[in-house]
Amino acid sequence: MKTFNLAGETASRVAQGCMRIANLSGDAVDRLVKSDLDCGVRFFDHADIYGGGACEERFGAFLRANPSLRAQMLIQTKCGIRPGRYDFSREHILEAAEGSLRRLGVDYVDFLLLHRPDTLMEPDEVAEAFDRLRRAGKVRHFGVSNHNPMQIALLSQALGENQIVVNQLQFSLTNATMIDAGINVNMENAGAVNRDGSVLEYCRLHRITIQPWSPFQHGFFEGPFIGSDKYPALNEKLEEIARRYDITPTGLAIAWILRHPARMQPIVGSVRPERLREIARAADVTITHEEWYELYRAGGRKIP
Ligand SMILES: NC(=O)c1ccc[n+]([C@@H]2O[C@H](COP(=O)([O-])OP(=O)(O)OC[C@H]3O[C@@H](n4cnc5c(N)ncnc54)[C@H](OP(=O)(O)O)[C@@H]3O)[C@@H](O)[C@H]2O)c1
Repeated sequence: MKTFNLAGETASRVAQGCMRIANLSGDAVDRLVKSDLDCGVRFFDHADIYGGGACEERFGAFLRANPSLRAQMLIQTKCGIRPGRYDFSREHILEAAEGSLRRLGVDYVDFLLLHRPDTLMEPDEVAEAFDRLRRAGKVRHFGVSNHNPMQIALLSQALGENQIVVNQLQFSLTNATMIDAGINVNMENAGAVNRDGSVLEYCRLHRITIQPWSPFQHGFFEGPFIGSDKYPALNEKLEEIARRYDITPTGLAIAWILRHPARMQPIVGSVRPERLREIARAADVTITHEEWYELYRAGGRKIP
Protein backbone atom coordinates (compact mmCIF):
# COMPACT_ATOMS: atom_id res chain seq x y z
CA MET A 1 0.00 0.00 0.00
CA LYS A 2 1.18 3.49 -0.82
CA THR A 3 2.09 5.80 2.03
CA PHE A 4 2.09 9.58 2.40
CA ASN A 5 3.56 12.19 4.68
CA LEU A 6 1.12 13.10 7.43
CA ALA A 7 2.65 15.72 9.74
CA GLY A 8 6.07 14.17 9.25
CA GLU A 9 4.85 10.60 9.87
CA THR A 10 4.78 7.96 7.16
CA ALA A 11 1.10 7.04 7.07
CA SER A 12 -0.74 4.41 5.03
CA ARG A 13 -3.18 5.92 2.52
CA VAL A 14 -5.98 3.86 4.09
CA ALA A 15 -6.72 3.63 7.81
CA GLN A 16 -8.52 0.97 9.81
CA GLY A 17 -11.43 2.39 11.79
CA CYS A 18 -11.89 0.61 15.12
CA MET A 19 -15.43 1.74 15.95
CA ARG A 20 -16.91 -1.68 15.22
CA ILE A 21 -14.47 -3.97 17.06
CA ALA A 22 -16.16 -3.90 20.49
CA ASN A 23 -17.82 -7.28 20.08
CA LEU A 24 -14.99 -9.09 18.32
CA SER A 25 -13.22 -11.93 20.12
CA GLY A 26 -9.54 -11.54 20.97
CA ASP A 27 -8.73 -13.95 18.13
CA ALA A 28 -10.75 -11.93 15.62
CA VAL A 29 -8.98 -8.69 16.63
CA ASP A 30 -5.65 -10.52 16.35
CA ARG A 31 -6.49 -11.72 12.83
CA LEU A 32 -7.76 -8.32 11.71
CA VAL A 33 -4.86 -6.23 12.99
CA LYS A 34 -2.16 -8.65 11.83
CA SER A 35 -3.77 -8.91 8.41
CA ASP A 36 -3.99 -5.08 8.22
CA LEU A 37 -0.30 -4.72 8.99
CA ASP A 38 0.52 -7.43 6.44
CA CYS A 39 -1.21 -5.52 3.68
CA GLY A 40 0.20 -2.15 4.70
CA VAL A 41 -2.70 -0.65 6.67
CA ARG A 42 -0.81 0.71 9.65
CA PHE A 43 -2.97 3.62 10.79
CA PHE A 44 -5.67 2.82 13.40
CA ASP A 45 -8.48 5.20 14.31
CA HIS A 46 -10.18 5.07 17.71
CA ALA A 47 -12.32 7.28 19.96
CA ASP A 48 -12.80 7.14 23.70
CA ILE A 49 -16.53 6.62 23.16
CA TYR A 50 -16.38 3.69 20.70
CA GLY A 51 -18.13 0.79 22.39
CA GLY A 52 -18.12 2.90 25.57
CA GLY A 53 -14.33 2.35 25.75
CA ALA A 54 -14.48 -1.34 24.80
CA CYS A 55 -12.90 -0.76 21.35
CA GLU A 56 -9.78 0.80 22.84
CA GLU A 57 -9.69 -1.97 25.46
CA ARG A 58 -9.85 -4.71 22.81
CA PHE A 59 -7.07 -3.03 20.88
CA GLY A 60 -5.07 -2.58 24.10
CA ALA A 61 -5.37 -6.30 24.82
CA PHE A 62 -3.97 -7.00 21.36
CA LEU A 63 -1.04 -4.63 21.96
CA ARG A 64 -0.26 -6.15 25.34
CA ALA A 65 -0.02 -9.55 23.68
CA ASN A 66 2.01 -8.15 20.74
CA PRO A 67 4.03 -5.23 22.16
CA SER A 68 6.59 -5.22 19.35
CA LEU A 69 3.88 -4.33 16.80
CA ARG A 70 3.22 -0.89 18.36
CA ALA A 71 6.26 0.51 16.55
CA GLN A 72 4.74 -0.41 13.18
CA MET A 73 1.54 1.52 13.85
CA LEU A 74 0.20 5.03 13.97
CA ILE A 75 -2.57 5.20 16.55
CA GLN A 76 -5.16 7.94 16.64
CA THR A 77 -7.96 8.56 19.10
CA LYS A 78 -10.60 11.20 19.65
CA CYS A 79 -12.17 12.94 22.64
CA GLY A 80 -14.72 15.62 23.45
CA ILE A 81 -18.05 13.78 23.23
CA ARG A 82 -19.88 13.22 26.51
CA PRO A 83 -23.43 11.99 27.04
CA GLY A 84 -25.73 14.72 25.72
CA ARG A 85 -23.02 17.31 25.10
CA TYR A 86 -19.59 18.12 23.72
CA ASP A 87 -16.82 19.13 26.09
CA PHE A 88 -13.50 20.69 25.07
CA SER A 89 -12.63 21.91 28.58
CA ARG A 90 -9.00 21.50 29.60
CA GLU A 91 -9.95 19.06 32.34
CA HIS A 92 -12.04 16.87 30.08
CA ILE A 93 -9.46 16.73 27.29
CA LEU A 94 -6.71 15.76 29.75
CA GLU A 95 -8.87 13.22 31.53
CA ALA A 96 -10.14 11.68 28.27
CA ALA A 97 -6.63 11.40 26.84
CA GLU A 98 -5.40 9.66 30.00
CA GLY A 99 -8.34 7.24 29.78
CA SER A 100 -7.51 6.37 26.17
CA LEU A 101 -3.83 5.82 26.97
CA ARG A 102 -4.81 3.54 29.83
CA ARG A 103 -7.29 1.47 27.79
CA LEU A 104 -4.94 1.22 24.83
CA GLY A 105 -2.05 0.37 27.15
CA VAL A 106 0.32 2.77 25.37
CA ASP A 107 2.58 5.60 26.54
CA TYR A 108 1.52 7.90 23.72
CA VAL A 109 -0.88 8.19 20.81
CA ASP A 110 0.31 9.59 17.50
CA PHE A 111 -2.80 11.71 16.88
CA LEU A 112 -5.54 13.07 19.16
CA LEU A 113 -8.63 14.65 17.56
CA LEU A 114 -11.46 16.74 18.96
CA HIS A 115 -14.44 14.63 17.94
CA ARG A 116 -17.31 17.09 17.32
CA PRO A 117 -17.31 20.89 17.76
CA ASP A 118 -18.10 22.13 21.25
CA THR A 119 -19.73 25.53 20.84
CA LEU A 120 -18.80 26.38 24.43
CA MET A 121 -15.11 25.75 23.86
CA GLU A 122 -12.46 28.19 25.02
CA PRO A 123 -9.59 27.98 22.51
CA ASP A 124 -7.00 28.91 25.17
CA GLU A 125 -8.08 25.95 27.31
CA VAL A 126 -7.75 23.60 24.36
CA ALA A 127 -4.29 25.04 23.68
CA GLU A 128 -3.25 24.50 27.29
CA ALA A 129 -4.47 20.91 27.30
CA PHE A 130 -2.74 20.14 23.99
CA ASP A 131 0.46 21.77 25.18
CA ARG A 132 0.51 19.68 28.36
CA LEU A 133 -0.12 16.47 26.47
CA ARG A 134 2.57 17.25 23.92
CA ARG A 135 5.16 18.23 26.54
CA ALA A 136 4.45 15.06 28.52
CA GLY A 137 5.10 13.05 25.35
CA LYS A 138 1.58 11.62 25.47
CA VAL A 139 0.34 12.95 22.11
CA ARG A 140 2.45 13.71 19.05
CA HIS A 141 -0.02 15.51 16.76
CA PHE A 142 -3.47 17.06 17.02
CA GLY A 143 -6.50 17.38 14.82
CA VAL A 144 -10.25 17.80 14.72
CA SER A 145 -13.25 15.97 13.37
CA ASN A 146 -16.46 17.37 11.81
CA HIS A 147 -15.12 20.94 12.06
CA ASN A 148 -15.70 23.76 9.58
CA PRO A 149 -12.98 26.19 8.47
CA MET A 150 -13.89 29.00 10.85
CA GLN A 151 -13.87 26.63 13.81
CA ILE A 152 -10.42 25.44 12.80
CA ALA A 153 -9.26 29.05 12.34
CA LEU A 154 -10.59 29.94 15.79
CA LEU A 155 -8.69 27.06 17.38
CA SER A 156 -5.56 27.80 15.36
CA GLN A 157 -5.44 31.35 16.69
CA ALA A 158 -4.80 29.89 20.15
CA LEU A 159 -2.84 26.79 19.14
CA GLY A 160 -0.60 28.44 16.57
CA GLU A 161 -0.66 27.91 12.82
CA ASN A 162 -0.36 24.40 11.39
CA GLN A 163 -1.07 22.64 14.67
CA ILE A 164 -4.30 21.10 13.36
CA VAL A 165 -3.12 18.47 10.91
CA VAL A 166 -6.25 16.32 10.46
CA ASN A 167 -9.97 16.95 9.96
CA GLN A 168 -12.12 13.82 9.93
CA LEU A 169 -15.33 14.30 7.91
CA GLN A 170 -18.04 12.10 6.43
CA PHE A 171 -17.25 11.65 2.76
CA SER A 172 -17.98 9.01 0.14
CA LEU A 173 -19.41 8.46 -3.34
CA THR A 174 -22.88 9.05 -1.88
CA ASN A 175 -22.01 11.78 0.68
CA ALA A 176 -19.94 14.32 -1.22
CA THR A 177 -21.55 17.66 -0.41
CA MET A 178 -18.14 19.28 0.07
CA ILE A 179 -17.43 18.54 -3.58
CA ASP A 180 -20.94 19.35 -4.86
CA ALA A 181 -20.77 22.89 -3.46
CA GLY A 182 -17.47 23.51 -5.21
CA ILE A 183 -18.84 22.28 -8.54
CA ASN A 184 -22.12 24.23 -8.39
CA VAL A 185 -20.74 27.58 -7.24
CA ASN A 186 -23.26 30.44 -7.39
CA MET A 187 -26.09 28.31 -8.77
CA GLU A 188 -29.67 28.00 -7.58
CA ASN A 189 -29.75 24.19 -7.38
CA ALA A 190 -29.48 22.10 -4.20
CA GLY A 191 -25.89 21.06 -4.98
CA ALA A 192 -24.80 24.69 -4.61
CA VAL A 193 -25.64 24.77 -0.90
CA ASN A 194 -22.36 25.30 0.90
CA ARG A 195 -22.91 23.22 4.02
CA ASP A 196 -19.44 23.27 5.45
CA GLY A 197 -17.85 26.64 4.65
CA SER A 198 -15.71 25.27 1.80
CA VAL A 199 -13.95 22.84 4.13
CA LEU A 200 -12.37 20.90 1.27
CA GLU A 201 -10.62 23.96 -0.14
CA TYR A 202 -9.68 25.22 3.34
CA CYS A 203 -8.06 21.92 4.26
CA ARG A 204 -6.13 21.86 1.00
CA LEU A 205 -4.96 25.44 1.53
CA HIS A 206 -3.76 24.64 5.05
CA ARG A 207 -2.41 21.18 4.27
CA ILE A 208 -4.85 19.55 6.67
CA THR A 209 -5.46 15.89 5.86
CA ILE A 210 -9.13 15.07 5.44
CA GLN A 211 -9.96 11.63 6.78
CA PRO A 212 -13.26 10.48 5.24
CA TRP A 213 -15.26 8.48 7.78
CA SER A 214 -17.94 5.93 6.81
CA PRO A 215 -16.68 5.77 3.22
CA PHE A 216 -19.22 3.04 2.41
CA GLN A 217 -22.31 4.19 4.30
CA HIS A 218 -25.08 6.18 2.65
CA GLY A 219 -27.01 8.69 4.74
CA PHE A 220 -26.09 8.67 8.40
CA PHE A 221 -25.17 4.99 9.03
CA GLU A 222 -28.01 3.75 6.81
CA GLY A 223 -25.97 0.88 5.44
CA PRO A 224 -23.45 0.37 2.65
CA PHE A 225 -24.29 1.73 -0.81
CA ILE A 226 -22.32 -1.13 -2.38
CA GLY A 227 -24.95 -3.59 -3.63
CA SER A 228 -27.81 -1.37 -2.41
CA ASP A 229 -30.84 -1.18 -4.71
CA LYS A 230 -31.10 2.51 -3.83
CA TYR A 231 -28.08 3.16 -6.06
CA PRO A 232 -28.46 1.04 -9.22
CA ALA A 233 -26.59 3.41 -11.57
CA LEU A 234 -23.71 3.82 -9.15
CA ASN A 235 -23.36 0.08 -8.58
CA GLU A 236 -23.46 -0.62 -12.31
CA LYS A 237 -20.71 1.93 -12.95
CA LEU A 238 -18.63 0.64 -10.04
CA GLU A 239 -18.83 -2.90 -11.45
CA GLU A 240 -17.92 -1.74 -14.95
CA ILE A 241 -14.85 0.26 -13.93
CA ALA A 242 -13.74 -2.24 -11.27
CA ARG A 243 -13.58 -4.98 -13.93
CA ARG A 244 -11.17 -2.80 -15.96
CA TYR A 245 -8.67 -2.79 -13.09
CA ASP A 246 -9.38 -6.28 -11.80
CA ILE A 247 -10.49 -4.91 -8.44
CA THR A 248 -13.85 -5.04 -6.62
CA PRO A 249 -16.49 -2.28 -6.48
CA THR A 250 -15.66 -2.00 -2.77
CA GLY A 251 -12.02 -1.38 -3.59
CA LEU A 252 -12.94 1.08 -6.33
CA ALA A 253 -15.03 3.18 -3.94
CA ILE A 254 -11.81 3.80 -2.00
CA ALA A 255 -9.68 4.30 -5.14
CA TRP A 256 -12.22 7.04 -6.07
CA ILE A 257 -11.53 8.86 -2.79
CA LEU A 258 -7.78 8.42 -3.13
CA ARG A 259 -7.81 9.84 -6.70
CA HIS A 260 -8.77 13.27 -5.37
CA PRO A 261 -5.68 15.50 -5.17
CA ALA A 262 -6.57 16.61 -1.63
CA ARG A 263 -4.75 13.39 -0.62
CA MET A 264 -7.44 12.20 1.76
CA GLN A 265 -6.96 9.22 4.05
CA PRO A 266 -10.19 7.16 4.21
CA ILE A 267 -11.04 5.42 7.49
CA VAL A 268 -12.52 2.04 6.65
CA GLY A 269 -14.72 0.43 9.29
CA SER A 270 -15.02 -3.17 8.09
CA VAL A 271 -13.82 -5.78 10.57
CA ARG A 272 -13.28 -8.46 7.91
CA PRO A 273 -9.62 -9.03 7.02
CA GLU A 274 -10.57 -10.13 3.49
CA ARG A 275 -12.44 -6.83 2.89
CA LEU A 276 -9.43 -4.83 4.06
CA ARG A 277 -7.20 -6.85 1.75
CA GLU A 278 -9.34 -6.09 -1.30
CA ILE A 279 -9.37 -2.41 -0.33
CA ALA A 280 -5.59 -2.37 0.20
CA ARG A 281 -5.06 -3.85 -3.27
CA ALA A 282 -7.33 -1.26 -4.90
CA ALA A 283 -5.65 1.57 -3.00
CA ASP A 284 -2.67 1.25 -5.33
CA VAL A 285 -4.87 1.74 -8.42
CA THR A 286 -5.07 5.25 -9.89
CA ILE A 287 -8.29 5.73 -11.85
CA THR A 288 -8.46 8.27 -14.65
CA HIS A 289 -9.75 11.82 -14.43
CA GLU A 290 -12.70 10.80 -16.66
CA GLU A 291 -13.54 7.73 -14.55
CA TRP A 292 -13.54 9.86 -11.41
CA TYR A 293 -16.23 12.13 -12.88
CA GLU A 294 -18.19 9.18 -14.29
CA LEU A 295 -18.45 7.73 -10.78
CA TYR A 296 -19.29 11.13 -9.31
CA ARG A 297 -22.18 11.49 -11.78
CA ALA A 298 -23.31 7.89 -11.26
CA GLY A 299 -23.84 8.82 -7.61
CA GLY A 300 -26.85 10.82 -8.85
CA ARG A 301 -25.32 14.24 -9.51
CA LYS A 302 -25.47 16.45 -12.57
CA ILE A 303 -22.59 18.52 -13.85
CA PRO A 304 -23.95 22.03 -14.58
N1 LIG B 1 -15.34 11.26 13.24
C1 LIG B 1 -16.56 10.77 13.27
O1 LIG B 1 -17.52 11.47 13.62
C2 LIG B 1 -16.77 9.35 12.87
C3 LIG B 1 -18.08 8.86 12.71
C4 LIG B 1 -18.23 7.52 12.33
C5 LIG B 1 -17.12 6.73 12.11
N2 LIG B 1 -15.86 7.24 12.29
C6 LIG B 1 -14.66 6.41 12.01
O2 LIG B 1 -14.79 5.92 10.69
C7 LIG B 1 -14.64 4.51 10.68
C8 LIG B 1 -15.47 3.93 9.58
O3 LIG B 1 -16.85 4.12 9.84
P1 LIG B 1 -17.90 3.02 9.40
O4 LIG B 1 -17.57 1.74 10.01
O5 LIG B 1 -19.26 3.61 9.61
O6 LIG B 1 -17.56 3.00 7.84
P2 LIG B 1 -17.73 2.08 6.58
O7 LIG B 1 -16.40 1.54 6.25
O8 LIG B 1 -18.44 2.93 5.59
O9 LIG B 1 -18.73 0.91 7.00
C9 LIG B 1 -18.29 -0.33 7.46
C10 LIG B 1 -19.48 -1.20 7.72
O10 LIG B 1 -20.12 -1.50 6.47
C11 LIG B 1 -20.20 -2.92 6.32
N3 LIG B 1 -20.13 -3.28 4.90
C12 LIG B 1 -21.04 -4.04 4.26
N4 LIG B 1 -20.74 -4.19 2.98
C13 LIG B 1 -19.58 -3.52 2.79
C14 LIG B 1 -18.76 -3.34 1.66
N5 LIG B 1 -19.06 -3.86 0.46
N6 LIG B 1 -17.63 -2.64 1.81
C15 LIG B 1 -17.30 -2.11 3.01
N7 LIG B 1 -18.05 -2.26 4.14
C16 LIG B 1 -19.20 -2.97 4.02
C17 LIG B 1 -19.02 -3.45 7.13
O11 LIG B 1 -19.30 -4.79 7.45
P3 LIG B 1 -18.11 -5.90 7.63
O12 LIG B 1 -17.41 -5.53 8.90
O13 LIG B 1 -18.87 -7.16 7.72
O14 LIG B 1 -17.23 -5.81 6.43
C18 LIG B 1 -19.08 -2.53 8.33
O15 LIG B 1 -20.10 -2.93 9.23
C19 LIG B 1 -15.05 4.08 12.09
O16 LIG B 1 -14.49 2.82 12.44
C20 LIG B 1 -14.50 5.18 12.92
O17 LIG B 1 -13.12 4.95 13.15
C21 LIG B 1 -15.68 8.53 12.65
